[in-house]
Amino acid sequence: MPDVSYRKARVEDFPVILTLMRSSFDVVLRDHGFLDSSPFASSRMPAVPQQGFPWFEMGLKEDGEGFWVAEVEGKVAGITLSWVRGSLWYLAHLFVSQEHQGLNIGQNLMEIAMKHHKGPAITNRALVTFAYNPVSISLYARYGIYPREPLYWMEGPSQHVKTDISNTKLRSEKVVDFEKSRGVLSRLDELNLGYAREKNHEFLQSLPTVRCHLFSSGDNPVGYAYVWQNGRVGPLATISHETFRDVLKAAFKLAAAEGAPNVGIAATGSNEQLMQVALDQKMRILDNYLFMSSKPFPNFSNYVLYPTGAML
Ligand SMILES: CC(C)(COP(=O)(O)OP(=O)(O)OC[C@H]1O[C@@H](n2cnc3c(N)ncnc32)[C@H](O)[C@@H]1OP(=O)(O)O)[C@@H](O)C(=O)NCCC(=O)NCCS
Repeated sequence: MPDVSYRKARVEDFPVILTLMRSSFDVVLRDHGFLDSSPFASSRMPAVPQQGFPWFEMGLKEDGEGFWVAEVEGKVAGITLSWVRGSLWYLAHLFVSQEHQGLNIGQNLMEIAMKHHKGPAITNRALVTFAYNPVSISLYARYGIYPREPLYWMEGPSQHVKTDISNTKLRSEKVVDFEKSRGVLSRLDELNLGYAREKNHEFLQSLPTVRCHLFSSGDNPVGYAYVWQNGRVGPLATISHETFRDVLKAAFKLAAAEGAPNVGIAATGSNEQLMQVALDQKMRILDNYLFMSSKPFPNFSNYVLYPTGAML
C-alpha cells in the first residue's frame, strides 16, 4: 500500500490536475464504450491552456477549503473540488488516477470534501457523475447522495435548429451589466433550484466564451439562458413550464448563430419538453450522466443544467 498524503490544492497544481481529470475521464469513457461518441473525451477538448485556469482559480479563491489533492510519492494521484453557496454543497470534481484507484483515495477525498461548508449548515448536496460508473455512484450513495435524474448529453447540427417560436412577444437581450440582472437571475434560481448562486453567474459572465441572455415577454422577465460559442446551451431557467419551450428554442437559435457546427445540451430525462425539442431538432444522445443529490430539487421542468456538470 503506497503512502498517500492529502493537502490543499495550489495554483502550480492546475495543469497536473486538468491532465489527471482528463485521463481519468477517458478511462471511464473507453471502458464503457463512449470514447468515440462523447464530446468530453480529451481528444475533443481544447488544448491544456498554457496560462489561466479561471474555473480552478475561482475554486481556490472562493472554495479553497473544498479544493484538495492526494499525493503519492510527491505526485498528484487524486483531486477533489467542491463549492458551497449558502446551504448548498456541490461536488464539481472527484478523480483518482487509474493506477491509484481502489486504494481508498476516493473515499478519503470524499470525507474531506464532505466537511466543506461556509457558515450556514449544509442542507443539500449535489453532483453529476457518469450514469455508467457503479464505483462513483455507490461511493456517493454511501454519503447519502442518491441518483435523482438521468442526464443525456445531446447534440445536433446547427443547421437543423428550428426557428419557429409560438410566443411572438418573446424578446431576448444580452446581459452586459451583471449588477443589473443580479436580482432577476437570483429570483429564477430560487424558484427553480431553491438557491441563489450569484458567484456562479458572476463567474460565467466573466468568461469570453459564453453570453447570458435574458428573456422577457412584454415587460415581464421570463427566463435566462447561457449560450456558448461552441454551440452549447446551459444553464437555462424559466419562470414557468409554459415559457420553457419557447425560451429553449430561442436559446438554440442563438446557439446555432454562434457559428459552431453543432448545438448541444445536457437533457434532463424528466423534462418532456426538453426531450421533445431536442429530438425535433434532430439531436442525438452522445453520452449519459446522472444527477445525484441528498434531497430532491424543486423543479427541473423549467431548468437546464450547466453543460459540463461542474456547476448546477
Ligand atoms: C470514482 C473514484 C473517484 C473512486 O475513487 P477510488 O480511490 O478508486 O475509490 P476507493 O478505493 O476510495 O473506493 C471505491 C469503493 O467502491 C467500491 N466498488 C468498486 N466497484 C464497485 C461496484 N461495481 N459497485 C459498488 N461498489 C464498488 C469498492 O469496493 C470500494 O469500496 P470498499 O472500500 O468499501 O470496498 C475513482 O475510481 C475515479 O476517479 N474514477 C474515474 C472518474 C470518476 O468516475 N469520477 C467521478 C466523477 S464525478
